[in-house]
Amino acid sequence: MNRESSRTVQPAHGRLGVLLPGMGAVATTFIAGVESVRRGLAQPVGSVTQLGTIRLGKRTEGRSPAIRDFVPLARLDDLVFGGWDPIPDDAYRAAKVAGVLEDAHLAPIADFLKGIVPMPAVFDQYYVKKLTGSNVKQGKTKRDLAEQLREDIRRFKRDHALERLVIVWCASTEIFIRPGPVHATLAAFERAMAENHPDIAPSMLYAWAALMEGVPFAMGAPNLAVDTPALQELALARALPIAGKDFKTGQTLLKTVLAPMLKARMLGISGWYSTNILGNRDGEVLDDPESFKTKEESKLGVLEHILQPELYPELYGNVFHKVRINYYPPRRDNKEGWDNIDIFGWLGYPMQIKVDFLCRDSILAAPIVLDLALFMDLAQRSGMEGIQEWLSFYFKSPMAAPGLVPENDLFIQQTKLKNTLRYLMGEEQITHLGIEYYER
Ligand SMILES: NC(=O)c1ccc[n+]([C@@H]2O[C@H](COP(=O)([O-])OP(=O)(O)OC[C@H]3O[C@@H](n4cnc5c(N)ncnc54)[C@H](O)[C@@H]3O)[C@@H](O)[C@H]2O)c1
Repeated sequence: MNRESSRTVQPAHGRLGVLLPGMGAVATTFIAGVESVRRGLAQPVGSVTQLGTIRLGKRTEGRSPAIRDFVPLARLDDLVFGGWDPIPDDAYRAAKVAGVLEDAHLAPIADFLKGIVPMPAVFDQYYVKKLTGSNVKQGKTKRDLAEQLREDIRRFKRDHALERLVIVWCASTEIFIRPGPVHATLAAFERAMAENHPDIAPSMLYAWAALMEGVPFAMGAPNLAVDTPALQELALARALPIAGKDFKTGQTLLKTVLAPMLKARMLGISGWYSTNILGNRDGEVLDDPESFKTKEESKLGVLEHILQPELYPELYGNVFHKVRINYYPPRRDNKEGWDNIDIFGWLGYPMQIKVDFLCRDSILAAPIVLDLALFMDLAQRSGMEGIQEWLSFYFKSPMAAPGLVPENDLFIQQTKLKNTLRYLMGEEQITHLGIEYYER
């Protein structure tokens, strides 16, 4: 059965503000990239919203429009950038420090980047041990700090004459926090903010402030934030989209392609060892065991969900899965990720797969920030509220409704994303059955 939508998608009139908590490597690579594309200096490689197409109807119809022509997305020219960071560097200086983009890319847009100066952050070193910063808000309670963020959002909207806003978290990975009673309901959460409870991390305050101001919020790090019942309650109460968590960029992207392939062929896995070297600030932050624990949880869940050992105990009942991240400054943002996969085939004979991905972290993450900003804005204009599972495609640790197993397989995620776009625009879902091409 094809489920067609009766939703009305509001047009993308006016300017869209993109506010980024965290103006480090990912955020500045994203902003600089969009500006370069706007000036015709570069191509938005890696961005599904800018380069992707979507097939509509039967294969014989030959209808494959660009996604950005099919759904009403904000235009790149209508994006206005801002953000918060405890480090006061403007976007140009921050991009230079991050060292991702070369001068050939930064120099032509230096003035534009220098005009983007971070607002003082809600920051507490307790949650990110390896960072210090001077550009930090002061307030008696966490509630006061969150109210200051709300004022920032309102002011930014007013000053730039914006029609709408989205927030995409591009700040650091915080220490591991287990969901507890203070995250269970909105009332408990708001009480805990007023009482400065330690389980209320800065990222949660940004998320709360965003939702209170009617702004969709996407979480790019593995921090809990909107992955709590309290903030999900708020998102539903305000009919706002939320998404997370942890951008799926390098090693996990490969993992969510390779593991489904092995499972599709019913090949067994006895071990999966993943290690990384990385030398940027994110690598330094993750060198702290408490921040690493947050990342580790995010990276480890993937295999379990894809392989379903409870259904295939003889193939995946005993997988030894290990993930390591090693801070190694000489490589800066150019991460190297190795995977050693011990697999077994017919009659249990062992084989090995080795992957060595020499990637660039922020180059892979920047187009994800763009797509999330545009799709979250689309979701809001389409009246989509709560967890946006169709955006799982972009996340290592995708959020799903309580009781649902999250979907990690990249190509199922892609199908879900494209079918959601078809659904929004009242087009038929594509089932890939295809029997009609062969039967009279
Ligand atoms: N690049 C990737 O491939 C990738 C993939 C998945 C997730 N991530 C996550 O994205 C985030 C950004 O990565 P990055 O490489 O840009 O790191 P980065 O260290 O270069 O930038 C993070 C910035 O956030 C700032 N910050 C920290 N706490 C803050 C707060 N409370 N409020 C506002 N700003 C704050 C820091 O000062 C820093 O400038 C990290 O959490 C990282 O784990 C990155």
